[in-house]
Amino acid sequence: MMNQNIVLIGYRGSGKTTFGRAIAQELNLPFADLDAEIEFVVGMSIADYTEKYGWQQFREVEQKVSHDFCRNFSGIIASGGGTIENSKNLQNLKKTGKFVFLNPDFKDVRKFLLKDTSRPRLNPDIPLHQEIDQSWEQRKGIYGATADIEVRPDIKNENVAEEAKKIIEQIPKNLIPKPPKKKKIAVFASRNGSTLQGLADAQAKGRIPNVEFELFITDQPDCGALEKAKAIGFNEIEVMPENGDSREDYDREITNLVREFKPEWVLLAGWMRIFSPVYCDQFGDITLNVHPSLLPKFAGLKDAEVHQKVLDYEEKYTGATIHRITAEVDAGESVLQRKVLVEEDDDVDSLRVKVQRQEILGFCEILERR
Ligand code: GAR
Repeated sequence: MMNQNIVLIGYRGSGKTTFGRAIAQELNLPFADLDAEIEFVVGMSIADYTEKYGWQQFREVEQKVSHDFCRNFSGIIASGGGTIENSKNLQNLKKTGKFVFLNPDFKDVRKFLLKDTSRPRLNPDIPLHQEIDQSWEQRKGIYGATADIEVRPDIKNENVAEEAKKIIEQIPKNLIPKPPKKKKIAVFASRNGSTLQGLADAQAKGRIPNVEFELFITDQPDCGALEKAKAIGFNEIEVMPENGDSREDYDREITNLVREFKPEWVLLAGWMRIFSPVYCDQFGDITLNVHPSLLPKFAGLKDAEVHQKVLDYEEKYTGATIHRITAEVDAGESVLQRKVLVEEDDDVDSLRVKVQRQEILGFCEILERR
């Protein structure tokens, strides 16, 4: 089934993020800001990223995000001001929904942008007012030509909700996306729960809107993941420390819980036990383990050990693998891999952070699939 987004396009400062969030709230739909998504993927602000790597490389990342993320999303998306100048981005986004062009009075936008120093400069060699005028001249044609609907919001109106309602009135009802169906997930974790927290944060930002945190299990009563799970508000939390039971009996208990709560997916997010066939034969298919390497490389090791090996072997790339589980450690069918470039100044900690970011993005991608 085609997904259907409302993609807000328009110049910098035209209210894509502000009105986008309000429109989504009014329609009870998920909202995503493409720029925020990119910032998460690259792990820094767009201003820092473009200063370090330039606009061309930024557009390449944007292309990947607009493709991978938007096709699995159904809701309101705020594009970046220059996103659709790139023809690949334009094609990617067009496939995922309808374009609503926010076209407020340019005088108001100009005034607003002149006061806003937080945005990355497009051309630092010319004065800001000139940059604003030039790039508007350059871009306005493409917004108009690609829009399915054009609206003229008043960005001076401080009542954002009211302005959002006016925009909604101009969007034909049949173009409005349907709210996503909820999927229950279970998460098992034994350690800090960094990836779990990342998923909760992603949801707070509008990703995985279809996910309900149903069941959390830990084998470590004092782990950080348990605290995080409580704060996230899972419907059911089970603390199951080692109690002298055989591995099979322990796994039987977990199997019964999964049978009772019927999650669509079980995510092992830093779960340090290996399941026996008692569990794998029943639920190996819906259970996804994340391993912090590009499997089959460095299978069977734990996170810091993996990252250390990556450095010792001077690997050019590392990454995260999400795979279904079997009773053999780190060996089940791979569902998705996400790569990370190993840079000269990387150490175990920086690799952990980068790889975990990819673990979160990988899980989000799988969970958002219909
Ligand atoms: C997970 O995010 C994953 O990278 C790795 O441990 C991390 C737990 O970190 N998993 C494995 O190594 C599984 N063999 P955390 O304690 O920060 O949540």
